[in-house]
Amino acid sequence: MAIDKKFVEECWAKLDEKLSRTAVSSYDKIPYTTVDGVHDDKKAYETIDHWTNGFWPALMTLMYAGTKKEQYLKTGRNAMSYMDQGLMKWSGLHHDVGFMWNISSGMDYRITGDETQRNRFLLAANHLMGRFNKDAGFIRAWQHEAHIGWAIIDCMMNIPILYRASEDIGDKRFAMVADAHAEKTATYHVREDGSCNHINEYDPLTGEFVQTFGGQGYQLGSSWTRGQAWGLYGFALAYKHTKNEKYLNIAKRIAHYFMACAARTNWLTPCDFRQPEGEELYDTTAGACAACGLLEIADSVPELEQSLYRDGAMNLLKALEKECDWTDKEDSIMQRGTEAYAFGHHKPIIYGDYFFAEAIYRLMGFDSSILW
Ligand code: GLY
Repeated sequence: MAIDKKFVEECWAKLDEKLSRTAVSSYDKIPYTTVDGVHDDKKAYETIDHWTNGFWPALMTLMYAGTKKEQYLKTGRNAMSYMDQGLMKWSGLHHDVGFMWNISSGMDYRITGDETQRNRFLLAANHLMGRFNKDAGFIRAWQHEAHIGWAIIDCMMNIPILYRASEDIGDKRFAMVADAHAEKTATYHVREDGSCNHINEYDPLTGEFVQTFGGQGYQLGSSWTRGQAWGLYGFALAYKHTKNEKYLNIAKRIAHYFMACAARTNWLTPCDFRQPEGEELYDTTAGACAACGLLEIADSVPELEQSLYRDGAMNLLKALEKECDWTDKEDSIMQRGTEAYAFGHHKPIIYGDYFFAEAIYRLMGFDSSILW
């Protein structure tokens, strides 16, 4: 299957039409989801550290990169200025600072060279460095004292900020930490069959593997779909920044497993690939993130291999497009995202919109070097 140019161009036009409107109506917000069709707002002090806050400014910055419309840049930067309070709130911070600042300030900086944005993304990278456990070889996930030995697959999407910082300031320590975390994740999170654990616990003094948890998936040993997508895209990005073939092969292994599973539900991603048979619980955000990862792999492999990954991405995006609300009655775009198997079912979530837009941006042939 070749890239369906008509489909891609129509999606891009609809994204621009809808987001041109919300860039104005939600100018002073940091949306996460919608309530009665209207964007909510996470910019209050209590929620300014929420791990998803970077996706709205990232979406705005991405649209600026593809259209050069100033309003997008302005709206993105307004959200990023609120996020400075989050960067100063250590107790609320976590490993997800890459999600928060690599594709918001970092992407803005890579497009515009703006020094304020550079400062923000480097401060965030420094925070992530401070979460590294040298003797145990992993980046700690959350702050809770009981979680001192916890690392999660999601962090593969955060380590690109370290590779970026390493390159930007010419300090290899950042890349060394990213590599150490990727190696640990490759050994203990990625299973032989290409599926992935969500949460692992290690002995924080020795790094010895202690146990794994079901996390946001169905149960222990299941396969939380968004976690698989974080692993797929995360290892593809680790390859992009290091050219280490091992990371590309891991990304491909997760991708093969992901595509085989997604085909079973007509490419509409369930919340967990191992949830009970016939259960109608979906997470569109996982499919959108995986589509971006598949496109990243397609850009990394020889020509003969590319169509497998591009076709997988196209299949996912065609299923996802049917879940999009393009009307002006609803501020969000993609519906039926799911936070976790146990809660937050079938709602629009901002990272779903971001990844859907990023996949279409990539297929439009715009500059993908500014991403991640
Ligand atoms: N990083 C948390 C999640 O994917 O829900």
